[in-house]
Amino acid sequence: MTLSDVTKARFDKEVAKYPKEQAQSAVMACLSIVQQEQGWVSPESEAVIAEYLGMPAIAVHEVTTFYNMYNQQPVGKYKLNVCTNLPCQLRNGQVALEHLCKTLNVEDGGTTADGLFTVAKCECLGACADAPVMLVNDRQMLSYMSQQKLDEMIALIRSEEANAGKAA
Ligand code: FES
Repeated sequence: MTLSDVTKARFDKEVAKYPKEQAQSAVMACLSIVQQEQGWVSPESEAVIAEYLGMPAIAVHEVTTFYNMYNQQPVGKYKLNVCTNLPCQLRNGQVALEHLCKTLNVEDGGTTADGLFTVAKCECLGACADAPVMLVNDRQMLSYMSQQKLDEMIALIRSEEANAGKAA
């Protein structure tokens, strides 16, 4: 894998935010850029980032594996991370996870056959007061999840996707 001019320009912009000798501080931003462009962070992408930032590939991999938001394999268009840590667990986080898996016919960590949804449990999202919670595509939080809310969300996404398909 080689860096495209566009990607390199984006990396350059992130690195410019730090003193020259601290280019490695841009590693999270570079990983995010790769994920935005490719949908996930492959070992090849980690190697390219490592070379670009002048750091060991294993150090980049440590960052990828530490943070939940980096996808280490391709995921569906909608990534649904359900928190199953204790506060959410006490408010039926596990029940919500199982409901989603059953509704979408996937295992935890799996992706639907149409490539639309990936469902995976995750660690605390820092919103325990709103338990149980779920994060959609690393950006949008669904609080106080209930089976009804989950069903409505899935139906809404499917309907929007169907309409987008008709418009295309
Ligand atoms: S335990 Fe679920 S957000 Fe903290």
